[in-house]
Amino acid sequence: MMHGTEHAGRIAVEGVEIPFMRLADGRLMCDFFMFQLFDSEEELAATLQRTRGLLWDAIGATRAVRAGITIRPNIYDINDAELKELIHAVRKLKEMGIYDDFVRRHYAIMTDGSQIHTFPTFLPWHRVFILEFEQALQIVSLGLRLAFWNWAADAAAGKDAPLWQTEGPRTFFGGDGDSTDQRVTTGPCADWRILTQTNSQWLTYRSGHGLLRALGRGEPTLPQPDQLRRVLNVTPYDCPPWYMTSDISRSFRNALEGWGPAAPQLHNQVHVWIGGVMKTEPSPNDPVFFLHHAFVDYVWATWQKLHPLETYQPGRDGPPGQNIDDPMPHLRTPVTPRQTLDTRAMGYEYPDEPLSEMLPRL
Ligand code: CU
Ligand code: CU
Repeated sequence: MMHGTEHAGRIAVEGVEIPFMRLADGRLMCDFFMFQLFDSEEELAATLQRTRGLLWDAIGATRAVRAGITIRPNIYDINDAELKELIHAVRKLKEMGIYDDFVRRHYAIMTDGSQIHTFPTFLPWHRVFILEFEQALQIVSLGLRLAFWNWAADAAAGKDAPLWQTEGPRTFFGGDGDSTDQRVTTGPCADWRILTQTNSQWLTYRSGHGLLRALGRGEPTLPQPDQLRRVLNVTPYDCPPWYMTSDISRSFRNALEGWGPAAPQLHNQVHVWIGGVMKTEPSPNDPVFFLHHAFVDYVWATWQKLHPLETYQPGRDGPPGQNIDDPMPHLRTPVTPRQTLDTRAMGYEYPDEPLSEMLPRL
């Protein structure tokens, strides 16, 4: 994180004092807009003022005691009202600048040397990242849940699956991109400006750069149900060299992430199959990112139930930052892999269905 000559300050917005940090170069950073830097107190105050209603809800929500455990549903199982609420909340987060904070953080871990993808922390880091996104959705609408998209169940339908439909009674986050420029011109994100990499360091908004998808053009098929079945039987969690070169018959993490001789598989294959922004470092630009990673998380949670004697690895002898008690970077609070092993302790779980229900029949 930031270090050196920074110092803390406070800014009053409608009588509430909001803390911020002043960095060595004079710019300001506020916890509510992580990775968004402000040039002046006026600019920060104006942003806080613009989003104040939701900000106070957020402060209230973090103080509220969670009454129960959220069960994350299959995106196809939520009712029309909840789907509408989910889409509304995603759009609202985008409007508030909070959505793009997730895009920036994911971009940061892929470009600043943080070892998250291709390493053991791949699963725990994304588990916390999407939980933070779910909590952000709850800023807009208390009780809202993140949903997962079972891509293996949609492998046969491909781009004809309900998720990509743009007409009819139930539509989700828009359809395929244009056949020439990949622009997504349908659905609730059609008007979005997305964060695009303009040089090696910074993401900026470029006019004319909306959401991009190219379903099935980079990779002909989604992962098949039998690939999922196979990966669920792989143990242990990970193995040396704790990297993308780890043997996928002995590293559940590396197999599910989708490396190995036939890469891209599983998680990686889905990113490539969707294409467009999902193939880039700022992949959370596409809201389907969160549905995809919720399912990856569900697969890990299922693996944990199937293999109760296995746990996260490495324990102590792995690369720095990858051990079970090492804090992970670019999260709201430092979290270690050990602290992510029980989703119920984190406030959520997945439907407790038998595996045969979760996986489509062969
Ligand atoms: Cu990622
Ligand atoms: Cu991913």
